[in-house]
Amino acid sequence: MNKRYITTPIYYVNDIPHIGHAYTTIIADSLARFYRLKGYDTFFLTGTDEHGQKIEQAALSRGKNPKEYADIVSAKFRSLWDEFDISYDYFIRTTDENHKKGAQKAFEVMFEKGDIYKGEYEGHYCVSCETFFTDMQLINAELCPDCGRTTTLVKEDSYFFRLSAYQDKLLKWYEEVDDCVIPKAKKNEVINFVKQGLRDLSITRTSFDWGIKLPSSLSDSKHVLYVWLDALVNYLSALGYGTDEKNMSFWPASFHIVGKDILRFHGIYWPAFLMSLNLPLPKHIAAHGWWTRNGEKMSKSKGNVVNPREVAEAYGLENFRYFLLREVPFGQDGDFSQKALIDRINSDLGNELGNLLNRIIGMSGKYADFKLDSADVLKYHQKEIDAADTILEGAQSYIEELYTNKYLEELWKVLTIANQSIALYEPWNKIKEGKKDEALALVALSANLLAKAAVLLSPIMPKTADKIANALGFKIDTDTYNRLILKKELLKKTILTPTEPLFPRVEKELMSSPEPVTQPKEESKKEFISIDKFFACEIKIGTITKAEAIEKSDRLLKLSVDLGEAKERQIISGIRAYYEPAVLIGTQVCVVANLKPAKIMGLESEGMILTAEDKDGLSLIRPENTKAKGALIK
Ligand code: ME8
Ligand code: MG
Repeated sequence: MNKRYITTPIYYVNDIPHIGHAYTTIIADSLARFYRLKGYDTFFLTGTDEHGQKIEQAALSRGKNPKEYADIVSAKFRSLWDEFDISYDYFIRTTDENHKKGAQKAFEVMFEKGDIYKGEYEGHYCVSCETFFTDMQLINAELCPDCGRTTTLVKEDSYFFRLSAYQDKLLKWYEEVDDCVIPKAKKNEVINFVKQGLRDLSITRTSFDWGIKLPSSLSDSKHVLYVWLDALVNYLSALGYGTDEKNMSFWPASFHIVGKDILRFHGIYWPAFLMSLNLPLPKHIAAHGWWTRNGEKMSKSKGNVVNPREVAEAYGLENFRYFLLREVPFGQDGDFSQKALIDRINSDLGNELGNLLNRIIGMSGKYADFKLDSADVLKYHQKEIDAADTILEGAQSYIEELYTNKYLEELWKVLTIANQSIALYEPWNKIKEGKKDEALALVALSANLLAKAAVLLSPIMPKTADKIANALGFKIDTDTYNRLILKKELLKKTILTPTEPLFPRVEKELMSSPEPVTQPKEESKKEFISIDKFFACEIKIGTITKAEAIEKSDRLLKLSVDLGEAKERQIISGIRAYYEPAVLIGTQVCVVANLKPAKIMGLESEGMILTAEDKDGLSLIRPENTKAKGALIK
């Protein structure tokens, strides 16, 4: 029997679910439903990622221990997916005992193979991304190139994975398997990254302990697994790797569906780990784009997240699913707006789909007492049926490549054929002309086109498709898929049942604020720091002695600032739009004095000047009275 294994990322439990998470999960759910409809043996996995420094910090800042905290947030993900009817077969948590055993086994196998060695890691780490960075990768010598947050310097004992040894094998895989990473543009990014050279990867941490211990065979209790190694192995441990391996027959994964933020981990580290484990590689790693609000990536720390539960409550879960999968081509970013969602509901769903069903039921009630008979359809409408069958046959390759928007466009072409046929053949006139059999054939044509489209719509809008099928007197299952889609048959004789309108018109925005659900910022990022952290930052009073504009920059000024040290500091500051250079001479300002020097437009900048900005513009922060140069701010 054909098998399919489909996964979502396992989501970090520092965050409550937002529409980005819902998007990935709904794509995966639709794909799993599509393969089940085709009769494939399908295993659909989702779950939560619960270890690592980021989760430990999130828990501590809420006064909880990490496990307690993970229990709460993991349950939130799970209950949302249950409410959303997500058809997962297994929900994995990385704190599950079985998963821990699987991850330890993976470490052991890689170790025995000689792919792991012990050393010391020294470099930068972004806790939010749980990622190591080299100096070269950082922005302004300290900021994370992925999320822009400040990185920390780490120096600790660590085991390393010989990632460098897999560079050529990875490049060969990308070359040989055309669709191993989709879409193509994303695959090229991965290839370019690998071509720049891969360094060995630190895969254990020693400076905190919220993680999976090394296998006992190594007798090294100081280390916990790096959270990304732990997390990636979930795709195996969920199938019983390292414990009860009966579901390993689902391996290799057919689709790992991920956002582009984590493609590097899935497209590079994961296949390298699998090669080391001597396991076959996933068939497709599919990376989608981001949902944004006003152009910015939606994320909790920005406080611009849309709560999927509220959208589903306001507009209907299935309408929301349709919108997510129809609005944005797979791989591209999409901006969430209520207006776009309402347009989709009123036009695609209401006008084109819902009205078609109403018209079919209305006509059949009027002309045939709700009886439906496909006997004459091919006699009058072979052309329309053939066209629709061809479209639907072709449409399936789109969903198999995750192009759900194209898939839905194709289904809608079939609805258009039905709607246009009704307009063209005017069955009401046929009745007047005494050509009742032609009128009934037209009604049956439309019903068949809608029925076929509904079968393939069912993975995306399962309840809606069932309602349509119910009204048209059939049932959607693998058997009907085989008959109506594969064998291109027509509906059997049946009786239609009138239904409520499926898509009542939406007249106005149904969620009150333009920012539907913004999490209060304090609640989302209440991370306290100790006083030592504050004092780690040396802020001093300095006097500006020189100021000049920098050519080619309308933002930057080059300043000399006297901090009472042997030599004045050169500081490049982005205040040009607010201050004429001349007025700054003699002014006292606050300077972050122990910031690592950075090159800005080719000029060395030896500190940072403090400012505050709001909607009215930007101001320097200055002492109330003149203070000694170099006075420390505390
Ligand atoms: O990265 N738009 O977890 P995570 C679209 N635990 N999708 C989005 C999104 C947005 N604005 N924001 C998040 C992790 N996502 C790791 C994964 S897997 C072995 C470990 C979705 O909670 C998207 O799928 O940060 C993205 O890749 C994922 O959530 C990241 O979830
Ligand atoms: Mg993330």
